[in-house]
Amino acid sequence: PEVITVQELANRMAERGADVIKALMRMGVMATITQNIDTDTAELIVTEFGHRAHRVSEADVEVGVKGDVDRDEDLSPRPPVVTVMGHVDHGKTSLLDALRHTDVASREAGGITQHIGAYQVQLASGSRITFIDTPGHAAFTEMRARGANVTDVVVLVVAADDGVMPQTVEAIQHAKAAEVPIIIAINKCDLPGAKPDRVRQELLQHGLVVEAMGGDVLDVEVSAKTGKGLDKLEENILLQAEILELKANPARTAEGVVVEAKLERGRGSVATMLVQRGTLKVGDIVVAGSEWGRVRALVNDRGQNVESAGPATPVEVLGLNATPLAGDEFSVVESEARAREITEFRQRKKREAQVAQSARGSLEQMFKQI
Ligand code: GTP
Ligand code: MG
Repeated sequence: PEVITVQELANRMAERGADVIKALMRMGVMATITQNIDTDTAELIVTEFGHRAHRVSEADVEVGVKGDVDRDEDLSPRPPVVTVMGHVDHGKTSLLDALRHTDVASREAGGITQHIGAYQVQLASGSRITFIDTPGHAAFTEMRARGANVTDVVVLVVAADDGVMPQTVEAIQHAKAAEVPIIIAINKCDLPGAKPDRVRQELLQHGLVVEAMGGDVLDVEVSAKTGKGLDKLEENILLQAEILELKANPARTAEGVVVEAKLERGRGSVATMLVQRGTLKVGDIVVAGSEWGRVRALVNDRGQNVESAGPATPVEVLGLNATPLAGDEFSVVESEARAREITEFRQRKKREAQVAQSARGSLEQMFKQI
C-alpha cells in the first residue's frame, strides 16, 4: 500500500502522534491518529520534523537516513572524493596545487589554509578526482572530522623531514573512525633531511602498515616542489577508488553537503557545496541546513560559471538567502513554499533549543542563589 498511518509514522520518527497531527494540520491535512496518509505527505512530515526521509519502496518511509534509495540501473560511476589531511605545514595545499598545476597556497594569507577548499583534477586518462583540502590548524579539528564523512579516500600527508606529528595522529584517528581507506603521501622528499623510512616506522606505531612492511596501506614518496611521485599518487587513488566501485545517480534532484559558506561583498551568500547524488542546476530551489534559496549561479573550482554540477563535483552556489554552516546537508526541493516550510521549521527548532538552553541556565542561576 502507498500509505502509512499517522501513528506508525510517528513511531518511526520517535515523535508524539499529537505533534504529527498538528504538523499535518499546518499543512492543511486533517487526520486522526489511525488514519492513512500517502507517502508524499509522510515524507514532507518527516522532513518537517528534521529527519531525513528514506523511501525503500513507494510505501515504505524510513526515518533518519539520507534521501530515498536509488535503483541500481540508475547508478553511474562517479569520481572519488579525496580529503587531504595532515599536520600543519606538511604540504597539503602545495600538493593539491601541484596536482592542479595552479597556485592557491601562495595566495593564502600567511600560507595557512583558512577554510576547506574543494577542487577537481582531470587526469590525462580522462579520470577525475575530487579533492578536499583541510586546514592544518588545531582549531579546525571539528571541520576536519566532518571532512572525513564526505570522503571516500583520505590522503594523509606526512612531511619526510618532520615525521608523524600530533595532527597526523589526529587525522589517522578521524579516518579510522570514518572507516575510510588511507593513502600515505610522504611529502618533501626533495629535502636533504628527508627520512621516508623513519616516517613508515612511525606510522607502524599507529597501526598503519605500508606495503613494503608487509601491510596493505599504499604509500608514495612525493614532492610538491619537484612533482616527484604525483602520477603514482593519482594512480594509487584511482586504484583505491576502483575497489570501492563508487557510483551515484546523476539523474535526480541534487543532494550533498556544504563544505564551506561565507558572505561576500557584492555576491551575497557564497556556499561551496559538494554534490553527492543527482545534478544541481541553476534555477534549482535548494535547502541547506536552515537556509534556502534559488540557485542564481554556479561557479566551478576554476572560477567559471557552469549550468549544472553532477555527483562528486564541488561547486560554489550563489543565491541562498543566508549562509548555511559547513557540514550542513543540502537538498533540492520542488517549490519555494516547501523550502520555506522546511527552513522555518528548522529555525524554529533551533530557537526552541536555544530557549531551552537559556532556561536551563537561568534555573541553575536560581538554584545557586537559593
Ligand atoms: P596548512 O594548510 O597550514 O596546514 O599547511 P599545508 O599542509 O597546506 O602546507 P603548505 O602547502 O602551505 O606548505 C607549507 C610549507 O611547506 C610551504 O612553505 C611550502 O612551500 C613547503 N612545501 C610544501 N611541499 C613541499 C615539498 O614537497 N618540498 C619542499 N621543499 N617544501 C614543500
Ligand atoms: Mg594548507
